[in-house]
Amino acid sequence: MAAPPLARALDGVRLHVVTGKGGVGKTTVASALGLSLARQGKRVLLVEVENRQGISQTFDVPPLGTAEVRLVQDPSGGELWGLSVDAKAALLEYLQTFYKLGRAGGALEKMGVVDFATTIAPGVRDVLLTGKVYEAVGRTSGGKRGQGSLVWDAVVLDAPPTGRVARFLGVNEQVAGLARMGPIHSQAASITRMLRDRRSVVHVVTVLEEMPVQESADAVAELSAAGFGLGAVVVNQVREPLVAPDLLARLDADGPEVEEQVRADLTAAGVRSGPAPSAGCSPRRATTRPASPSSAT
Ligand SMILES: Nc1ncnc2c1ncn2[C@@H]1O[C@H](COP(=O)(O)OP(=O)(O)OP(=O)(O)O)[C@@H](O)[C@H]1O
Ligand SMILES: [Mg+2]
Repeated sequence: MAAPPLARALDGVRLHVVTGKGGVGKTTVASALGLSLARQGKRVLLVEVENRQGISQTFDVPPLGTAEVRLVQDPSGGELWGLSVDAKAALLEYLQTFYKLGRAGGALEKMGVVDFATTIAPGVRDVLLTGKVYEAVGRTSGGKRGQGSLVWDAVVLDAPPTGRVARFLGVNEQVAGLARMGPIHSQAASITRMLRDRRSVVHVVTVLEEMPVQESADAVAELSAAGFGLGAVVVNQVREPLVAPDLLARLDADGPEVEEQVRADLTAAGVRSGPAPSAGCSPRRATTRPASPSSAT
């Protein structure tokens, strides 16, 4: 059977960024996406960057530390791993990788420099977090970037909410502009290239309520204006209507008969019902308005 169009469109994607207004289901959708990719036989890393422990709660495993933890092993051979990126650990790793700081990194931590960089200095935290995602996307079995095969077939990022995501993804562009040359410039430029690559897409999760829908529309406009590739808009928590549309249409057509039937059923259940509150109070209205206290006793 041919894959559905969305699955085909997302087939070569290496980085899935999942955003949305707070509480709409970013972590749930990112987890479901990671699981579905793993079920296709892929090795997938699910990453969170806000120290919320949303992944461990979703999969009911102990809180994630700085090490990657296997969450699911699928019979297809696919695997889903989880990681909660910690800005401090990412900074120490960064200093070690780029400056071979070793123990000096520990000294910087004691002096409060690491705390300063990861919690106070604006934007540095996001540089470190996106840097870690970049590292994971490009990690190879050969040790060096570009050597050997890729460790992860896909990385799914449970990203900051819509209000902050464009700044989060765009922070390296600013860094590349500030540091005109040298290792920091080239690292920031590489991260920017990876995020704008067509194999990186941003999915926006929403629920069908006014604020989340508006924020999603704003985020889609902002992200595409900033040159990030858009993936899917996921409408989460869609509930089946309590009364199916065709039944509603029938109720409208057969109003009085249905009212009689409902009244008979209520009486059979021991509920005494009075007259309808007003003429033309159709069953459709009755399903959308709270019942008047006097309509049944
Ligand atoms: N489709 C769904 N069906 C049932 N429950 C859901 C669904 N999507 C999300 N939830 C529940 O809604 C709550 C919020 O979801 P989730 O934690 O994924 O949102 P979030 O956008 O990541 O929130 P936050 O902004 O706090 O990180 C959770 O309890 C989750 O289990
Ligand atoms: Mg979450």
